[in-house]
Amino acid sequence: MKKVRKAVIPVAGLGTRFLPATKSVPKEMLPVVDRPVVQYAVDEAFEAGIEHIVFVTGRNKQAIEDYFDVVPELMGTLQQGGKTEQYGSLERLLPQAGSTTFTRQQAPLGLGHAVWCARDVIGDEPFALLLPDMVSFGKRGCLAEIMDVYSVSGGNVIAVEQCDPSETHKYGIVGRGGPMGSGFEVTEMVEKPAPGKAPSNFYINGRYVLQPEIFDLLENQERGAGGEIQLTDAMVRLADSQKFYAKPFDGRMFDCGSKEGFIEANVAFALSRSDIGGTVLELVGDLIRAHGRRDAA
Ligand code: G1P
Repeated sequence: MKKVRKAVIPVAGLGTRFLPATKSVPKEMLPVVDRPVVQYAVDEAFEAGIEHIVFVTGRNKQAIEDYFDVVPELMGTLQQGGKTEQYGSLERLLPQAGSTTFTRQQAPLGLGHAVWCARDVIGDEPFALLLPDMVSFGKRGCLAEIMDVYSVSGGNVIAVEQCDPSETHKYGIVGRGGPMGSGFEVTEMVEKPAPGKAPSNFYINGRYVLQPEIFDLLENQERGAGGEIQLTDAMVRLADSQKFYAKPFDGRMFDCGSKEGFIEANVAFALSRSDIGGTVLELVGDLIRAHGRRDAA
């Protein structure tokens, strides 16, 4: 079984749901507490043993490339000011030289097309895919969990979570087959099924381990849901010749692509921090009580 060494992180999306902020700041650079959203996906990838990350970017996303580079003036100032803790944490967050590649998706044709743009850099190896809008929250990262399943099952592995049945039309949904380790075999996959047409309430939560044959299928994939080239549609075709497994995530994902999910992620991560968690809990409690009083008035 080939090792999964590389991960793809698509960051070309326009972020229209966060306008006007995203007029000049890529949505992946919006912070959850004090780290940009994209940093969480990168940390999760390296935690799972990934050695190289391929970012699929687009126009006006240079801030992401700059973010993963050294800023000598800043490092010098921190060092001179004796801010060793901040200096150390910035250094720790920096990917090793040569461990990132940036390639561009030249047109917003969908997730399937974005993944296809990474084909030459990935080559003939299995790879991980992390959708950075979905921020993993749990003891271990979601990718590490599905890599564990992959090391037993091989094939293709996707992370899933259960959603309210009324929400299945928002996601890729999988059908549940027999058990495989801590996961199960996938019987079918549907991208954004019409209400009442979902095979289950297990939705694809944005973490995948895929075999490179997906690229040949993406090359001629027709447009699907929303008029976009959908990754799930190519996965359905790959499932004709390869196995797909799903692993229900032990933690949970926050959907930072929506305003509510982004705010929820900020509160959850802040509450879990030893430096600010206690204060934030008090502040949130105060806000909720004040809100209740206003409603009662
Ligand atoms: C994409 C995938 C979908 C998955 C979702 C998770 O959809 O196509 O299968 O469930 O991410 O966020 P999008 O959110 O880009 O519409």
